[in-house]
Amino acid sequence: MCGIVGYIGAKEKKEILLDGLQELEYRGYDSAGIAVIEAEHLNHFKAVGKLSNLREKTKEFHTDGFGVSIGHTRWATHGKPTELNAHPHLGQYSYVVHNGIIENYSELKKELQANGVAFLSQTDTETIVHLFERYNAVAASPFDAFKQTIERLHGAYATLLITEAAPETIFFAKNGSPMLIGLDGSDIYFASSDTPIIGKAKEVYYLEDGEFGYAKEGKIHLFDRNGVRQIVTRALASDKAMAQKEGYRFFMEKEIYEQSSVMSDTMIGRVKEDGVVFEELDEGFFDGIEQIKICACGTSYHSGLTASYLLERLAKIPCSVEIASEFRYKEPLLLPNTLFVTISQSGETADTLEALKMAKKAGLKSLSICNVDNSSIVRESDGVILTRAGIEKGVASTKAFATQAMVLWMLSLHLAKLRSALSPQRVAEEISAMLHTPKALIVSDELHGRLHRLSKRYLHGHGFFFIGRDIFFPLALEGALKLKEISYLHAEGYPAGEMKHGPIALADSELFTIALMPKTLHYEKIKSNVEELSARDSTILAISPEPFDLADDFIQTLSAAHPMLEFFEMMVVTQLLALEISVRLGNDVDMPRNLAKSVTVE
Ligand code: F6R
Repeated sequence: MCGIVGYIGAKEKKEILLDGLQELEYRGYDSAGIAVIEAEHLNHFKAVGKLSNLREKTKEFHTDGFGVSIGHTRWATHGKPTELNAHPHLGQYSYVVHNGIIENYSELKKELQANGVAFLSQTDTETIVHLFERYNAVAASPFDAFKQTIERLHGAYATLLITEAAPETIFFAKNGSPMLIGLDGSDIYFASSDTPIIGKAKEVYYLEDGEFGYAKEGKIHLFDRNGVRQIVTRALASDKAMAQKEGYRFFMEKEIYEQSSVMSDTMIGRVKEDGVVFEELDEGFFDGIEQIKICACGTSYHSGLTASYLLERLAKIPCSVEIASEFRYKEPLLLPNTLFVTISQSGETADTLEALKMAKKAGLKSLSICNVDNSSIVRESDGVILTRAGIEKGVASTKAFATQAMVLWMLSLHLAKLRSALSPQRVAEEISAMLHTPKALIVSDELHGRLHRLSKRYLHGHGFFFIGRDIFFPLALEGALKLKEISYLHAEGYPAGEMKHGPIALADSELFTIALMPKTLHYEKIKSNVEELSARDSTILAISPEPFDLADDFIQTLSAAHPMLEFFEMMVVTQLLALEISVRLGNDVDMPRNLAKSVTVE
């Protein structure tokens, strides 16, 4: 969701911007643009669609010598994805890029229009550049004008501004949307996340909400509303190799195959012989906690739902789960002794972040389960458990979900021990099952080949029902979400026992039921639910270790030692099924239409 890059220095700016934007593609976008000031000359280019269109447009453009530059990938919020609405937005002599939403933009726009300003785009962002130029006409310096501009903005934003009035400077501000500054000698970089600057900058500073300032002559001048701020940088990681496709057709495919190995990373140093330890959490972190509230969106919400079964079953602790966008506006009762757990692969999801801020305001202790260190949610939380999935580039989440589910299972066991809720023998059984997880996630050629062949029968129909019970219900929701996201076919996840309370009316041979039938949890119950659907002629794809006579198609799973092992194995099956259907339909697997990897607007 909108990506920002910026660079000041003497290197070739066009390449730095375009390469940087490429690294941010995973956030989702529908147009892109760059602007450069060199030798006091402004140049800008914009293009709708993929970055390759912008590359084509800038083919003949080269930069040479010192200059300032900004770039942006836009995911449309205010106004359609057109070239006029693409960033950077131009005033008379300045350009701005912005991520987030300026909530009071219509009021600001009216005010500017009343003063004779003509707007070219339908975006909220354009108000920033016009406000700046209006203040700059009378302010003591361009920085003063920028400061006055920022003071007028309400909402979430990360923004960069360059202007002919200060041609060696980039102005920046952050409030609610991510932004960092990378440094390498006198070269200064800006970006929405680490990846564009890995391999370029050596040190990094993650801006805090409310910080703003300017970069000039190799120095960062940082402020907040109380005055000057000290900038304390840290070394930047250099691991980008993980983000390449390594021979797979799609990032999503690579990430499905990687799940087995990343799961070992998730467990390393945490899963011990006699229990689970989280050294990253202070001793006594869970003292006084009597219930858990989980808050998340999308796929992360599904891992949260899975956790609600595990936390109550293993740790015997009451647990409720909320969709963050609902939670924010329902005037929730936030009781003391509740641990507020947010789950987010990106750590930047606006609704989850705001829910976390609400819980903190109410005095609750917070824990985040996240894949991106130093992300906004991580920085806002009292405690953090990183999922260690590595960079996930496919927009449809796979390994991030798997590692979230794993961490939450580990957390359940950790709490079970702290609360003496399980016998040592039961703890040992759980640990043994955890250690077998990487094996359950191995994708065999045979399985993948079978799903490839079978997928051709599932390219039409009037809908898919993924059904399951217990933890296999959230997995059914997740399986359906994966299919929807990348195939654009209608799919629903449903608790198997609920089908007869309404949805069974849809059953006929064109309704595809994907039945998750584990052997270790309620097998007989789900079997009768599937029989009911089969009797009404629904086409059944059964996934189970146990052959099932009424199945039209059958995928035999191997694990039957522990429900979570069955869970992970069936998860892989549903992911590959969605992938193969999407490929056959000719869709863009890694960047499905209308979706963004990191949803930083509400
Ligand atoms: C689906 C998917 C989304 C995200 C959701 C929340 O494949 O990835 O549903 O799970 O947008 O994002 P995070 O986990 O970054 O908070």
